[in-house]
Formats: sequence, structure tokens, C-alpha cells
Amino acid sequence: MGKPKCIGILGGGQLARMSLFAGKRLGFDIAILEKESGSPAGQLTHLEFTGSPINKTLLKKFSACSDVITLENEFIDYKILEYIENLGTKVLPSSETISLIQDKLIQKETLKKNNIPVPNFIAVNSKTDFNKAAEFLKLPFILKSRKMGYDGYGNALIKNKRDFDKSFDKLTRRHSKLMAEQFVKFTKELAVMIARTENETAIYPVAETIQKDHICHTVIAPAEISTIVYKKARQAALIAVKAVKGFGLFGIELFLTNTGKILVNEMAPRPHNSGHYTIENCISSQFENHIRSVLGLPLGSTEMIKQCAVMINLLGKTNTTGEVKNYKQALSDQCVHLHVYGKKLSRIGRKMGHITVTGDDRKKVLLKAKKSERKIII
Ligand SMILES: Nc1ncnc2c1ncn2[C@@H]1O[C@H](COP(=O)(O)OP(=O)(O)OP(=O)(O)O)[C@@H](O)[C@H]1O
Ligand SMILES: [Mg+2]
Repeated sequence: MGKPKCIGILGGGQLARMSLFAGKRLGFDIAILEKESGSPAGQLTHLEFTGSPINKTLLKKFSACSDVITLENEFIDYKILEYIENLGTKVLPSSETISLIQDKLIQKETLKKNNIPVPNFIAVNSKTDFNKAAEFLKLPFILKSRKMGYDGYGNALIKNKRDFDKSFDKLTRRHSKLMAEQFVKFTKELAVMIARTENETAIYPVAETIQKDHICHTVIAPAEISTIVYKKARQAALIAVKAVKGFGLFGIELFLTNTGKILVNEMAPRPHNSGHYTIENCISSQFENHIRSVLGLPLGSTEMIKQCAVMINLLGKTNTTGEVKNYKQALSDQCVHLHVYGKKLSRIGRKMGHITVTGDDRKKVLLKAKKSERKIII
């Protein structure tokens, strides 16, 4: 037998860690490139590359060891991915796809060009753009960093010019370019995961996501929505992936408005928090289909096992080390699946792990998940 195929993942956080578990189970090697050693995924492989993802010597070594390279976030400049492709290593999703996604303004323009409904938006280049934005979008609106935003860190709600000036300064410290978006009064937020290869497409059930302080807190699958909305959501997600010529795994975040309209909020070219429930409740998880899709292998079934799954993120409750402080309490509920990400430090609000509960009675599953989350200290 020859050497197993190796998948290189740019980034070593929890998403890479869970893709690593899925890849290893199928017998593949996983290489991880992360700035510091001992990351959630890096600590689990002998192929741990440590350093900056823009260090070309490091990238050469990393790509020499990988049959294909994929990613766990959209923050690495697409030009770096292009550099890897020019070294002769396939990158999936490709540099071209990432170039259409990683800048939120370009992403929205691409979606709009493909007739995919999105919230109204406008570029913001200076503080003098406030009047133009307020006139076009009406107040309040959302100011967003075009790049490097996650867990809502790149967003601000703007109610007046003072908010705008303050947030303009704060957000441009994160990334120099901004955009503004209509404030959508959604009734629900939905998400759809899609895996796509040259030969097939696998679409996961539509999930409902509930954010607290702009961070994903709870995911309920499937979402409680009408059949028409369910179909519309999956269709919008699929067209969005095609619009960015996407191959690999994608998470598409959607707004459902009170008139039953679906708008695409944003898409992620990687596994997504809204798809963690697929580990226990789908025949093949998003992570397994991440691995399968980047290797061009047949995709696994996205069918649900039990009728309902609820995932709740375990956000840091203390500012100390990152392990669960009360394992006995945390594991006292049977049927609760506990995932701990192995982060060295916990911070209040940081994603440290998650739990998933599955079952056939939606209300009971949700109650159990909520009760269990309250008991865990991490
Ligand atoms: N135009 C909008 N109207 C209303 N609410 C919005 C809008 N854009 C974002 N939000 C709220 O803020 C949350 C985070 O926004 P968004 O998805 O743009 O940010 P992010 O930080 O890139 O995402 P993530 O939390 O997925 O990492 C959304 O899930 C939604 O609850
Ligand atoms: Mg989002």
C-alpha cells in the first residue's frame, strides 16, 4: 500500500479539528498550518506546520506535503491561494472562488449579479458617505468590515451620524474597507450546508440559527418553516454556490423576512457552525463531506437520522484554561454529545466547544440541550 493521501488545511481551529477527525477516520493524513503550535487541530497531527500563512518557504513545504489544500476560514488572501495553485497543488475551494467570497462587498455584488436576493448594500469609503448610505438604506443600517469579520466582530448597528463616525474608526482599525447594509427585520435566520464536486452536489437540511450578541448560539435542524420556504432556501443556497463557481464545502447564511422572502446574508467557503449537528444526526457529517469533496470522492448522504437535532455552542464562561471544569456534571445527561475544542485558554464568549442533542420530539430535545448547556463550565 502506498502513502495515504494528505489533505492540508490552512488554519487549525475547531473547524479544522473536526475535519481532521473525519479525514483520519477515512484513513487520510491531515496537515495543519497555523500561526502557533498546539492549535485545536495542530495538536492532533504529526504534520503540524507552524508560522505565518504568507511565509512562502513554509507554504512550499506545506504544499509539497499535501495532495490538496483546503481551508477553515476565508481570511487568507486569495493571492496566497493562487500562489499555492501555481506551485502545482490544487486548492479547494479555489483561489477564484475565494476571491469572490472573502471581500463581503464583492461577494454581495457577485450574488446580486446572479439574481440572488440579498439585502440592499452600498460601499463606504469615507466618513462623508454617511448621508448617501442613510438615504439609500434608511436608518438604522449595519456597517460591516468587508474582510476579516467573524462572530459579528466586524459589524456595527448605525442609528445616527455619531454611531457611524465612532464605528467607522473602530471597524477600520480591523480592516480598512467597509460597506453598509440595510437592516433586515428577519423573522428567522436559516443556514444551509452544501458539498459540491464536479460530479455531484449534496445539500443538507435547512437549519435555523439563533444568534446572541451577533454570535451563533443555538442551531435547530430542521428549521420549522413551510415547505415552500424550505425549498426556496435550498435553491438560493445552491445558486449562491454556483455563482462563485464553488467546489468543496459551503455554509450559506440566510434571512427569512416576514413576507416569506429569502435573502442571502453571507456564504462561508468551509465547514460552518450551523452544520455541527450533522456529526451525530446526518448519515455523513459536513466534515466528512468536506474531506470527500476536496478529494473529488463520492459524497455521503445528508439525510437526517433522528427527526430533530439541537446544537448549542459552549461559549467561555471564565477567563482561565480551556478545559471543562465539571466533567461529572457536564456528562451527567445521557444522550448529550459533548465536544470540547482543546483551546488552551478560555475567554468569556469564546467558542470553546458545543453540545448536540438529537431526538424525535423537538420540544424535549431543545429543553434538554438548554438545560445541559447551563450545567457546563468551560
Ligand atoms: N443586514 C443585516 N440585518 C440584520 N441583521 C444582520 C445583518 N447582517 C448581519 N446581521 C446579524 O449579525 C449576525 C452576524 O453577521 P454576519 O453574518 O454578517 O457577520 P460575521 O461576523 O461575518 O458572521 P459569523 O457570525 O457568521 O462569523 C447575523 O447572523 C445577523 O444576526
Ligand atoms: Mg455570519
